[in-house]
Order: sequence, then structure tokens, then C-alpha cells
Amino acid sequence: MSKEIWNLIPAKRQAMYLSQCPGHPTRVFRWLALASVLSSAGCSAAATDNPSLALEATDFSQAESAVVQDYRVGIVASRLSLAEQAGQMVQGEVLNILSDIAGGYNPVTELNLGSILSGGDGLPKDNSPTGWSELYDQMQRYAIASSSHIPVLYGIDAVHGHNAVLGSTIFPHNVGVGASRNPILASEAATITAREVAATGLDWTFAPCLAVTRDDRWGRTYESYGEAPQLQELLVSPVVLGLQGTTMQGTRVVATAKHFIGDGGTQWGTGYPKPTTPGSTNAEVRQIDRGNVQMDLDSLKQIHGKGYVEAVRAGVGTVMVSFSSVNGVKMSAYGDLILNYLKGHPSKGGLGFAGFVVSDWNAVEELPIDGVQDPLALYKEQVILAINAGIDLLMVEGKIGNQYKYALAHQFIQEAVRDGKISRDRINDAVARILRIKAQAGLFEKFDSAGHPKPSVKRLRENLAADFGSAPHRDVARQAVRESLVLLKNDAETLPLRAAKYDTIYVAGKNAHNLGAQCGGWTHGWQGQDGNAAKTPADHTILEGIEALGRKNNMRVVYSESADFPPDPQAASHRRGVVVAVIGEHPYAEFFGDSNDLSLDAADRATLGKLYKLKLPVVTVMVSARPAIVTDELRNWHAFVAAWLPGTQGEGVADVLAGDYDFSGKLPITWPRSMSQIPINVGDGQHGLFEYGSGLRYEVPSGEQSAMQ
Ligand code: BGC
Ligand code: BGC
Repeated sequence: MSKEIWNLIPAKRQAMYLSQCPGHPTRVFRWLALASVLSSAGCSAAATDNPSLALEATDFSQAESAVVQDYRVGIVASRLSLAEQAGQMVQGEVLNILSDIAGGYNPVTELNLGSILSGGDGLPKDNSPTGWSELYDQMQRYAIASSSHIPVLYGIDAVHGHNAVLGSTIFPHNVGVGASRNPILASEAATITAREVAATGLDWTFAPCLAVTRDDRWGRTYESYGEAPQLQELLVSPVVLGLQGTTMQGTRVVATAKHFIGDGGTQWGTGYPKPTTPGSTNAEVRQIDRGNVQMDLDSLKQIHGKGYVEAVRAGVGTVMVSFSSVNGVKMSAYGDLILNYLKGHPSKGGLGFAGFVVSDWNAVEELPIDGVQDPLALYKEQVILAINAGIDLLMVEGKIGNQYKYALAHQFIQEAVRDGKISRDRINDAVARILRIKAQAGLFEKFDSAGHPKPSVKRLRENLAADFGSAPHRDVARQAVRESLVLLKNDAETLPLRAAKYDTIYVAGKNAHNLGAQCGGWTHGWQGQDGNAAKTPADHTILEGIEALGRKNNMRVVYSESADFPPDPQAASHRRGVVVAVIGEHPYAEFFGDSNDLSLDAADRATLGKLYKLKLPVVTVMVSARPAIVTDELRNWHAFVAAWLPGTQGEGVADVLAGDYDFSGKLPITWPRSMSQIPINVGDGQHGLFEYGSGLRYEVPSGEQSAMQ
């Protein structure tokens, strides 16, 4: 975080950050600066007086120094055959691997695969921390049994908590984190995410997403902290540090800055595949996701690049390259931006990124190669193009013909080196980068020669598992929910919901009692899960939060999803009721959410219509991944709260509705008046329904003029 950004934070909040790092007023700076110092000094485990960082120093006091790591990496790398090197550069998808193994062939052992991922739906049958630990240990035994004996780096999308696993603590999606503008809290949430990932054994998360979302029609809007690069500048290093600490091991994991670069800046109508793309089916056609960014490179870096500067400074271990294109060039083939800018030396204008670069999911197959028809020949050329553009690890899934792509990629890399199409230097560089991150993540010390985790590793994992989804973790999530809420309207002090004012709260709407909707996509599966099938007792819906508030403050809470309330005998004489409508979107991920109609759906409109007839004050709580078009409805709402995708602790919403806490969130995205205003972004001269940075409070603290917008 630069001094400039720090100065934009309101004084009261600055004081709060400082109070969370007691002792020195400069501690926040020192803490945020630590990683850049450490990574530029090539140091890994540091003695620090920061309490949260001290934790990992004690966890892994035997962590190797950078010099020892480099030495080890050098020794390991120099012993590898070309086949073993090629294996290190391929990441296989776990369900493919398991099905290959069921057929009698073990690709992890035979190919020396460098990495494994669980895609959004790559879950073990036993989707508990134990089930994941067993799967992880099994994969490591296979890796250690390979000719190189090198462990795999196992990655997953833990993007708002360890969100694939049942019973995990799920935090607000990034759009809500952007609304909170609280780097310390974001960092704490990241630390807890890392602890829950480490509790299941896994080493690596494909987070944080640094997208700067510039068009609300994009289905990945909620994965972004917001539309202004200041938000990425504010939040990215604390989150990377929260995930990785300074060691990437013990209670921490390896992080990923994604999707490099410009993923949030694509233009509507340029999505990929297009209807004209050979072989694409209608279901696959995307309107804006994976599309093209049209912009000069300086502006690209100014708008979409700030987060990468921060992430690299914070020592991020990996960067994932975007599916999207810049000025018509697919990012997975954009050597100038990957090799010269991202990995380039700072003296030549580069960011000096020393970790490794991973492709996105089968992104390599989207690279255009002229005149090659045969699918295998085409795939080979695509692999060569991507590696020569600077991609170190290929994320692959599925088959071509009857062969898994990990086997094909492994074969093609070797052939290309023999044919002189990929240089030995490029391979050596890629493998050294991958091994260095493995060393920093402590992988070379975690297992015995049979591939079993060592006793100290097991013990740490068991301790972390005992804390998985624990009350202290959920308390932080609840705070994150409270701070993510944005109050956009509150006429006549409709809120807070106090007993002195109301005796009955009527709750309605499809998202009031819907854990899946409030968690959104990338939760218990790639597309998320509408409804309460994945709900565990410690997960609370917004309705449950309001019910608890009613019990506490002696107010009646009556719920009907569709607002079909039974006639109330007291209603005529007794007008002390209030309506809370919890409406919004269904869960989705990626291009499934591309849409040029962000108006309320029929179910929400029907619910609202019935609620208006009650002639009581209406509080609307919007549970959505992005703004909706509500210009016509707004006049019927007395209060309006944007709750984004809050995650598992819905009671955080009730905390603020009750007035136990004040609102503090501010819009991270301009709220448009109509679809025709989109794209609309701060500073472009348009005026939305609510401007970027809007957010009311119950009480406006005095002396707070310099609020960060
Ligand atoms: C997404 C990435 C994700 C990867 C692995 C891709 O489709 O774009 O964000 O990390 O899949 O699930
Ligand atoms: C996977 C996701 C991935 C997506 C890419 C899905 O099948 O589960 O992880 O991001 O495919 O299209």
C-alpha cells in the first residue's frame, strides 16, 4: 500500500488499522512492506514482531533459508531428465487422474506431473477435511513414487474461504471485500482461508483475483474488488500476505494473482468462443467473458496492472494468465506482457516476478494457429506457443481423442525441445521457477521416503482441522459481512429495526433463507448451489440472523418466501410492522453470468408487488453479485441495502439491520440507472443511480472528510 493510498483512508479507520497492529504507529506500513523487503532480499522465513506473522515462524522454525532452498532447487533441477522436466510443467485435473488410475495407469507417477488441481467440481466423494486430506496424501504418495520423487503442488480455487469443502468458513466474495475497504480484515480473512486450506493438506489457492471489473454485464464481476484500481492497490498485498505469510508453508499456502492481465476490461460482444468459432456450441458462446480488451498498453497497466505491482511486491508465488485477449492477442500467447513485463527485470520496466506462471483451464487450446487442422498437431503448436510466451505450468483437463491432455502435453513438450521449437533455457527457467515455489512452500520437507506426511506435518494439519469452520473463524466472517454492506437509502430512519419502533418483522424473498444464493458461485461446486442442501448448522441464512435478532429484542419475525402472509388479526389496529425483502440473483460462475439484462426477475417482482400491498415500510436487501437495475422500484423502498454475496454468516446482515453496528461499506462499483448506461465507471462523466463510493451511515462521525471513495 502506498502512502498515497493510505492517506485516502479516513482518519478513524486508519486508527482502527493501527490499533490492530499494536505497539508502533508505523507497524501497518512495516507489515505491508515486509513482504517486498523479504522477497527482494530473497529471504523466506523471517523473525518478526507482528503477532500474525510470528505464528508461522513458530510453526516452521526449521524452514530453510533462501540460500539453502536455491541450492536444493539447483541440485534437484540438474538431475532431472527432459521427461521429468516436462512432467513438472504439466498440471493435471484430479478427476481425470483418478479415472486414469482406475483404468490401471498412474499419470502422477509415470509422467512426474508437477501439479494437480481440483477444478470447481473436482471434489472427493467425502467432501470433508478428512476426505480432502486423504485425497491429497494419496496424490503425494504417487508423486514421491515417481522417478524424480518430487512432490506435486496441489491447487484449488479457495477464493472466498475454502469454498469447495462442506463446513468451511465462507467469506463475502471480493466485491463485498471491496465495499468494506478494510485491508486488515481482508488479510485476516485470507489468513483464515489459508488455515482452512492447509487443514485439508492442499498447498495452493488460485486467489486472489485482481480483476478490475469495468462492465457489470460480466459474469465474473463479483470476483473483483471493484471498478477502480485504488481498490486493488489497497487490498492486494494484505490479502497475498494473509494467504502466504512470508513462508507459504505451515499454516499458509501459495497464492495466485489472476487473471493476468485485463480480464475485467473486455468488451461486450467480444466474448470467446464466438458463434463463428469452429466447433463451438450455442451453450458455450460467451458475450464478454474471455473477450478482448481494446486499449493502449500504458492505460492497460494503469487500470488493470496496479494489482500485479502490489502482488509481486508482496511476494506472490504464482500468476495465472487470463483467457482474455489484449488488442486481439490472446494473453496466453502474449510474450511481451508475460516475459518482458511480468517477468522482466525492473531496470527494463518489468515487474520482476520470480514465481511461476500458470495457464488458465485449457486456455492453451483457445490459441489460434493458422492452417493446422489435425487436432493433435494443433494442440502441439498451441503448447509450444504458450510455453514460448512464458507460461511455465499448463493447466489441462480432458482428452483429445482417447488420450488425456496431460499425457499429450508431456509428450509434445519433449518433442518440441528435441525439434528445437522450445529452447532448453526456457524449460530450465520454467522448471526452476516451479521448483523454487515448491521449496518455498516447504514441499521437499513434508514427506518421508514412502510419501507419507511427516509427524510434525500431520500434527499441524490435525490442529488446523480441529479449527476448521470454527466459531473464531466465523466471527471474522461475520465482521466481514457487516463491513461489506452498503446502505443506499434510508428514508425516515426506517432502519435500524428497533423494538421501540417495530413489533413485527415480515421477511420475504427468494434469497432470505437461501445459503447457496448468499454464497454465490464458486461455493460447494463451480456454479454454486441454489438452496440449503449444503448448509451445516454453523452456516446461517439472513433469515436466521433476523430470527435471532427478533428473539433477542423481543420482536415477532414472520417469514414467507413468496410474501404470502396469513391475514394478521392484529394488522388493522396494529401498524408497527416492517417488511424486509431479501431479493437478488441466483448463483453462477464465469460466463454463465454474462448478461445484458440486470433487471429484477419475475419472482422478485411478484414478491415485491405483494409486499407493497401490506402498506408497511419496506427494507430491501439485495443479495447479488453486482448491481441490478432498480430505478423504478426504488421509490417503493424506504430503505435499501446492497449485501453482495455475504457467504455463510448471514447473521452479519442482521447485526447491522438491528443497529448493533453501523454501516460502513461504500460502493465498489457505480450503480447504473439503466442497462444503456453500462459500461459506467467512476470518472467517465456519467451519473449512475448511486455513484461509486456511495454509502450511508446511521451516524456520520465528525471529522471524517477525507473518506476514500
Ligand atoms: C477460471 C480460473 C480458475 C480455474 C480453475 C478457470 O476456468 O478462469 O479462475 O482458477 O478455472 O478452476
Ligand atoms: C471446472 C472449473 C473451470 C471451468 C472452466 C469447470 O468444469 O470445474 O474449475 O473453471 O470448467 O470452464
